[in-house]
Amino acid sequence: MMDLKQEMKERCAYIEAALEKSVPEQKEFPPVIFEAMRYSLLAGGKRLRPMMVLAACEAVGGKKEDALPFACALEMIHTYSLIHDDLPAMDNDDYRRGRLTNHKVFGEDMAILAGDGLLHHAMETMADACLKNPTPQTTGAMKAIAHGAGIFGMLTGQVVDVHFEGKPLDKETLDFIHLHKTAAMIRGALESGAIIGGADKETAEQFGLAGEKIGVAFQILDDILDVTSTMEELGKPIHSDEKNHKTTYVTLYGIEKSREIAAKLSEEAMDIWKKQGDSCAFLAALTEYLTTRTY
Ligand code: IPE
Ligand code: IPE
Ligand code: MG
Ligand code: MG
Ligand code: MG
Repeated sequence: MMDLKQEMKERCAYIEAALEKSVPEQKEFPPVIFEAMRYSLLAGGKRLRPMMVLAACEAVGGKKEDALPFACALEMIHTYSLIHDDLPAMDNDDYRRGRLTNHKVFGEDMAILAGDGLLHHAMETMADACLKNPTPQTTGAMKAIAHGAGIFGMLTGQVVDVHFEGKPLDKETLDFIHLHKTAAMIRGALESGAIIGGADKETAEQFGLAGEKIGVAFQILDDILDVTSTMEELGKPIHSDEKNHKTTYVTLYGIEKSREIAAKLSEEAMDIWKKQGDSCAFLAALTEYLTTRTY
């Protein structure tokens, strides 16, 4: 039996070391932007998305070293989305990853720029990896990540999320939001990892589909935890959704039904891992853990 916690800890340490190097400390003018970017990037998130990039790559027979720049880039983009998500104009939250939010420490102007900085640096990091190894796999991974983050993914999910604040919203629209704001990046993580690892089109699509299901379940859990958890456990404020008058899975379905829907999505993802075989054992364990998580 795999000791999942220990596995995750080791994989996390590998990612942390790479992230630490990915955005250097800069003493020369202007150090503040590097400091602001590093403040949020190195604040100890769960690193689930980069973990998925690397695990997907290995699951299809690739080397994790080849996927590492893409894993780091994805985590930079995710961190930028969190910095912007917390801004006063968006969710207006004061804590993230167990510390004050970026704008609380560096000011709104610098937080916007730190988010932008992480996004641009992610693109440069992926472009460097593509130049070093110019193959359809590297370009394909970059495309999958950019697609998951952009106007066909996370960004559009955030647009619809803020548009419907305080307004009634139906189930289809809520699913659109969850599929885009959260699941698209998780799809991008698993799909890009599989592509780098050399998977064929059909396999990469199956990894992406699993990511979509895991992503929606993950956001349903996030909605639940916003009501049931604590700030100490989450490292971010609870009741953020209520404060912002958001319609969530909890407000539409209640906690129990929401858990059931998340469990069903998780099972569907597990079926995909089972069909892919033993090489997906870690991804299967991670899926089960994520979709039943308490923090
Ligand atoms: C938070 O993501 C934003 C959501 C999409 C729910 P995580 O819960 O993965 O946050 P970190 O990266 O661990 O801080
Ligand atoms: C945000 O969803 C998803 C992102 C794209 C950042 P939430 O607004 O619910 O995420 P948290 O709860 O602040 O982490
Ligand atoms: Mg939000
Ligand atoms: Mg938020
Ligand atoms: Mg939330």
